[in-house]
Amino acid sequence: MLELKNSQSPPLDDPVLPKRPRRLRASPALRDSLAETRLLPSDFIVPFFVVPGRQIEEPIPALPGVARLSVDRFLPALEAALEQGLRSALLFGVLPESAKDPLGQSAADPQGPVPSALRAAREAFGEAVVLYTDVCLCGHTTHGHCGVLRETPRGVQIDNDASLRHLAAMALAHAEAGADFVAPSDMMDGRVGYLRQALDRHGHSQVGILSYAVKYASAFYGPFREAAHSAPSFGDRATYQMDVRNAREALREAELDEAEGADLLMVKPALAYLDILARLRPRTQLPLVAYNVSGEYAMLKAAARAGVLDEGRAVRETLLAIKRAGADLIISYHAQEALAQGWI
Ligand code: PBG
Repeated sequence: MLELKNSQSPPLDDPVLPKRPRRLRASPALRDSLAETRLLPSDFIVPFFVVPGRQIEEPIPALPGVARLSVDRFLPALEAALEQGLRSALLFGVLPESAKDPLGQSAADPQGPVPSALRAAREAFGEAVVLYTDVCLCGHTTHGHCGVLRETPRGVQIDNDASLRHLAAMALAHAEAGADFVAPSDMMDGRVGYLRQALDRHGHSQVGILSYAVKYASAFYGPFREAAHSAPSFGDRATYQMDVRNAREALREAELDEAEGADLLMVKPALAYLDILARLRPRTQLPLVAYNVSGEYAMLKAAARAGVLDEGRAVRETLLAIKRAGADLIISYHAQEALAQGWI
């Protein structure tokens, strides 16, 4: 028999502990009442992939539960999100290879999927939805880079300043079609200031800019590039997206974008860069947005499918971490399911 009580030990006084943090964790009701971080439906921006055509709902194998939608299918999907209390959508256009060219000119086509989706959503839901659009050339160029190319004595390079004009044309097409915010994700220098001027000069001073201010050259965009058919056909994005080893550079990028007129600043990806979000939070008064990107979503889905973790708890913990680190808004593919399943 195991002897639990050692009769040889000297009698001890009951400890007097001056601090007992466990008092505040005693019951679910108490823990709920003291929670420092809470997730609300209005915290989320839901990404949508919009394609030309009709009656298209094409599942994306790399992003289980997410599909490419034609405008007529996007509208009910957006309506369902709004019924869940979600307020914001981020639109990406996905085009067939036949619509692409080296300059990505389809990006500014007013009949393209994103402008069409904007007009339809605005007509259907008015101001009940906040509409953001991704502004980037990678889904529109044959080479898949986020800017246009130029031959230089040092080889083929991304032409920063020429890219700005194409990006501005894209942003204007979105503004004309009813976007609330354009979200440049190309990481060219000076694009926030250039877009701000272009919008203002064309009568869109009310259209805001959500800048992908701090966007790292990340492996976690893999599933997105499959979803959006936007992988670069040669090289990588390291000359424009940020080096994953750097933090000070992130603060500098954010500072510049704020000075150029960004209304909202984004850190992307979210999970491997929570330190950046937390460092940026006290340095700006602008709202911060974090992008819980495709690879982060796909990782949890894969782990859940393999039966190695509880998806609901892992998603809740992930989203809470992003908000706790300082995000005002979270772009996430998990949002609708998390609300529908009661995970958050
Ligand atoms: C376009 C863009 C990308 C993402 C958002 N906008 C991909 C990239 O830069 O290659 C990634 C989003 C995600 O992974 O969910 N430049």
